[in-house]
Parts: sequence; C-alpha cells; structure tokens
Amino acid sequence: MKKVLFIITLILTIISASVGQPPLGPPSANQPPDIIISVSTLNTDLVYKVNGRDRRLYQSYLGSKLDNISELKQARDAEHLAYATSGTDNLFEPAIRMTHNDGNPSLELKYVSHNIEKPDTNITITSILLKDPEYPVEVTLYIKSYAAEDVIEQWVEIVQKEAKPVTIYNYASSMLHFDANKYWLTQFHGYWAEEMKMQENELTSGIKILDSKLGTRAHMYQTPVFFLSLNEKSDENNGELIAGTLGWSGNFQFVFEVDEKGSLRVISGINPFASEYSIQPGKPFKTPSFIFTYSNHGKGLASRNLHHWATNYGILDGTKPRLTLLNNWETTYFNFNEPKLVGLLDDTKKMGLDLFLLDDGWFANKYPRNDDHAGLGDWQENKAKLPDGLGYLVKEADSIGVKFGIWIEPEMVNPKSELYENHPEWILKLPNRPENYYRNQLVLDLTNPKVQEFVYNVVDGMMTKYPGIGFIKWDCNRMMTNAYSVYLKDEQSHLYIDYVNSLYSVLARLRQKYPHLPVMLCSGGGGRVDYGALRYFTEFWASDDTDPLERVYIQWGYSYFFPSFAVCNHITSWGKQSLKFRTDVAMMGKMGYDIQINGFTEKELKFSQDAIANYKRLSDVIWHGDLYRLISPYEEDRAVLMYVNSSKDKAVLFAYTLNSRFGETFNRVRLQGLDPVKTYNIREINVQPDGQRFRPSESGKSYSGDYLMKIGLNVGSGAALSSTVFEITE
Ligand code: DGJ
Repeated sequence: MKKVLFIITLILTIISASVGQPPLGPPSANQPPDIIISVSTLNTDLVYKVNGRDRRLYQSYLGSKLDNISELKQARDAEHLAYATSGTDNLFEPAIRMTHNDGNPSLELKYVSHNIEKPDTNITITSILLKDPEYPVEVTLYIKSYAAEDVIEQWVEIVQKEAKPVTIYNYASSMLHFDANKYWLTQFHGYWAEEMKMQENELTSGIKILDSKLGTRAHMYQTPVFFLSLNEKSDENNGELIAGTLGWSGNFQFVFEVDEKGSLRVISGINPFASEYSIQPGKPFKTPSFIFTYSNHGKGLASRNLHHWATNYGILDGTKPRLTLLNNWETTYFNFNEPKLVGLLDDTKKMGLDLFLLDDGWFANKYPRNDDHAGLGDWQENKAKLPDGLGYLVKEADSIGVKFGIWIEPEMVNPKSELYENHPEWILKLPNRPENYYRNQLVLDLTNPKVQEFVYNVVDGMMTKYPGIGFIKWDCNRMMTNAYSVYLKDEQSHLYIDYVNSLYSVLARLRQKYPHLPVMLCSGGGGRVDYGALRYFTEFWASDDTDPLERVYIQWGYSYFFPSFAVCNHITSWGKQSLKFRTDVAMMGKMGYDIQINGFTEKELKFSQDAIANYKRLSDVIWHGDLYRLISPYEEDRAVLMYVNSSKDKAVLFAYTLNSRFGETFNRVRLQGLDPVKTYNIREINVQPDGQRFRPSESGKSYSGDYLMKIGLNVGSGAALSSTVFEITE
C-alpha cells in the first residue's frame, strides 16, 4: 500500500512540476516553512509567499487590505510565480529570459532572503533576493510602497557573476497576477495631435500587447498607461481595478496574458524588441519602475491616488507653483525679430502672465533656423533675428518684471547644420543605407559620452551665459528609424535602452546644477509623457492640437494618470470656439497663451486679464485639489469635472457643452467630494465678454454640500461649444 501511495505521489509530483506548479504531496519533515512577505499601503495589500517545498516565490494576493494576512498561509499554494523565468518549466510568457555564458538558455530563481527598509513613515522598500541554484545569477525584486497615496512601485535588479557576459532577452519591471471572471483593459492610443484616445476592451484568452518601438518620441502612438478592471467594467466611482504606468521614456511593453484557467498575468517593462542585453559580470542591470495603484472604488479614486503620488514624489517640484506664460510659436512660427519679441514681452506683462517663452527659430547662423529644414544642432543666437543676443531679451524681460524662457531640442540635428558637418559620427544612422528623415532631422547618438557632454552643454552653456533664463521647453520631434550607433559598435541591441539611460544621466546632471529650473517636457506634443522623464521635468506639453474641443478629450485622457498642474494647456487661435470656451478649457490644467494678444479687442483683453487673475487665485485648488470627473465626454455631449481642495472649503467646477441636438436636455449634475454639512456659495467666473450668463444660472446661490451632492447643480447651457466655470466656496 505504502509503495502504491509513493508511486502516485511521485507521478503527481512529476505532472505538476511539468506544468509549472509547486509539487503536490505532503510536506516532508525537514521542509523549511513557507514565508509570507507582505507589502502594504493604507488600503492595499500585495502578498508574496515563499513556498517551503520548492523555495520559489509566488504572488499570493493583490487587492484591498486583508484583516489577517497570515490566513493566506492556509490557502492552497498559489501557482503564480512572482517573477516567472524561462527555459525550465514555465509554459507562459516569462518576466525574465536569459542565456548563461555557457549557452544554457534557462533560469531558475529560488528565494534567498528579503529585507524591509523604511526610509520614512510613508515609504517602505521591500527587496526580495532570488538566486539561480546552479548559476551565479541574482535577481532582486524591489517593491516600494507609498502608504498614504496607495501607490506601489516595482523594479528589478539583475546581477550575474559568471565568467563572461550573459544575455538577457526579457527583463520585466513587474509581473502581477489576477484571478477574475473577466478583465477589461483601457488603453490610451493616439498620434501627433491626437493624443490619449481612450479605448476599452475585454481581454480574451491569449496575449494582448501594448507597446512602443519608436525609441525616441516613444509614446506618439501609445502612452505607457492602462487601467485593468476586474470582473466588470469600472466607472468613476465603482469597480475594482488597477491603474498602471511605466516610468520609461523609451520603448515599453505591457503584456496581458489570459491562460487556460482564466488567470491573467500582466508583465510590464522595457520592450524587449531588438533589445537583447549582455550584462557584464558584477555590473547590475536595473529596470525602470512600474507604478500602479489598486482601487475598489473606480477610476476616480485610482486617478486621485496617482495625482497625490505624482505631486509628492513623481514629478519634479510637484508641490511648488507653476508659471503662467505667453508662448510665440503659433503666432510667429519662425518669423520674428527683436522688436517683435520685445512687443510680446510687453504683451506678457499686460496680460498679467509670469513668463514669455521664446520657441523654435532663434538660433543658427551658417544655416539659419528659418524653417524646420536647417539649423538644428547649432545653438548660437541667429544674428539677423537677435542682433543683441538672448541676453538683451532676458534683460528686457527682467526690466518689466516678467521671466524669460527658451525652447531647445538638444537631442536632434538637421543635416543642414554645422553640427552635422563637424560630427557625422555623432548621429544615429545605418551604414549602407540612405539617411531616413522625419521633420527633416536625425537623432543624435546619446549613448556616446561626447554627445552627452554636448547636450549637457547646450543647457549649461546657455544658463551660464544667461543665468536670468527662467524656463526651458525641451522638445524632441522625431522617433528613431534606421537606428544604428557608431559608438556602440557590436552592441547595437543596447541602443534603445542605453539611449534612454544616457538621456536620464544628462538630465540628472543638469538637475544637480539646476535643481528647480522649470522645464517643460515636449515631444512634438505628448510624444514622451511618462513618470521616468517627469522626475526631471516640471510639466509637459500635452499636444500640438490646441483646438479646445479636441483638448477636452485629450486633457480628459491625461487626467486619468497625470495631475493637472503638469498638463500644459495653451489658449491659441485653433478652433472656432469663443475665447471664453478656449480659456475655460485651458484653465483646467496649467494655463498659458499662444495667441496674438495685440489682435484682442478691449473686451477680450479685459476678459483674459480677469481670467488670468481668477486662475492665479484658484490655481492651488486646480493644481492640488482632488479631481472628480463628473460627466465624461465619451458618454455625453458634455464634459463636467471639478477640483476640491483638501479642507473642502473651495472647489472649482468646469462644464463644457460639446454638442447640442434637437430635444436634448442636460440634467443637473451631482457634485462630489464636498463636505455635506458645509454651506457653499456658487459664483460663476470667467463670464463672457458681453456679460451674458447661461440661464438658469446658479451664480449667487448657496447650497449645502449635501444638496449639491444629492440633487446637484445646473451647470451649463444647451448651446453647443459653450462652457461654465463655477467657483464654489464655503
Ligand atoms: C513641436 C512642439 O510641439 C511645438 O509646440 C513647437 O515647439 C514646435 N515643435 C517647434 O518646432
């Protein structure tokens, strides 16, 4: 009998091991105990378990906080490897794939130890060391939790101590597992001037991938963000989901794989496409961070969690104020001179704005930058346009009490430039192939330390010469094609990764010297928006599309993952909407102007000056208040959202009527986030130049928070492309 039992156990063990499960059967007497490792925030637990039998690390749980984590010890052994390897018994998509220096194409990871560090009361960093039992390869999983923000950040470090380099083919930042009945994926795709278009689909068996292969301007087609709703679609206030994003300004990949049992694994990290990487012995390979939050109260809470995290940790100087500005791009393009710019400085002052931003076209002499065909790379003032140099403009700005900012695109070069002539070896281009242009330009090879030095000096040289410069817009107008680095020689597959790390090291060096200089991240619009870059930038240019109707959707999309103070919105002459509509749309983020101010009528000027004053008075609520998206433009012909400050005594509500159809009525909108027992006064601001208000206007009335949240407000008119802004004050 004993013999039969033994044989059955043996067979079961072999079967289960072959499909990647922990061996079944009774624990042996000298088996080490299971170990539970939990990572917690205020409302979330992520729990790992080291299985005593096989010493592998499994994900046991991810969800809302458990009363008693130790109960998981009794749970049937989880089958979800925390960081699944490849080459042994894993039959699904791996988090890591490697070939050892002897050619062995497999990796096995066993738990060695873990460590918990608490740099402060809010942050906990848990590191779990895993090791291959046969090869000197170590993989450490890092999980950093931000308690109050309910955000978790994950990354991985790989170290090998073999005799020669080993090659990694996959190297995810995070692997998470879910067991739900259904999965709904919300993605944000787009193109130039069409950023952040939201789509939601059910995941079915097999693999769905969201990724980028563009190298630079990497997020032009797809922003590295997603919602994953479990069991049912989630809405603003209901549903269980995670919101995830990768802090990486290059090629990224999110893999969603639903297996034969309906379990889902989500693998997030750098896109392994054309990027096998050889790691030198002893030199750690660190992945970027995957950042996520879990919510069981819908997307609204997930967004607020990410906004709080971004304000406190994710974006440079997130708690500090931003500057309102006048930009000249759409009013002059390349066609300007000194007197014209001095006029714009005066307009900046007249409007009550903080800063004038001089855009593209101010540089290069041998091949003047008079359009986008020439000059990129030659960062000296163009003598014809700026005979007295930037210093003159900085001084002029200072004398009237406004700041001066400047546009650069230091990673790029036009073939018609001195830089191209002097350093052809600094440029990414394939040997034996014609150069491939996009916007008539090529990408510099930032993996080359000499190029890094050059890019650093573009900024540092300018700032040293003109320390009065108070703002930079850093642009990046093309993706990589025909990508080949002379510098990397036979390590071409390192290019996509080394490029981004080199960019970060230049930015880090600049930040050491200029820790608080405001810098706008731009990539022909929103082609490079992610939390890897935003550690070095204070804000980003969301899109070149400034038509306010389009912007309602674009800004709505960004609002899911990025806080309003970082989303630069400019009032321009795109679109046929009223100045009021354009102003109200720009005001729900970081407001700026890029419009002919001297073409304004007296009324328009007065309206704008008042709107800027309103914005300055309310910007703290708009930038740092809690965002409640009340009516989605994806669901109705209008969009309504509001920001509420933390003491709940001030709120600002924005309502936009986007379209109006015969017989269409708009019901009252119930507000959110207020204090039910407080009484609020409602005041309409940014009233139209002709003084007309929409009827029935709620302006001047007072209601309790209870009334406003249960019954609601009439927030706008039925007229298409009209808007209302309410200041709501206790
Ligand atoms: C693309 C940016 O998105 C624009 O705002 C402007 O700066 C142009 N580049 C200048 O070339």
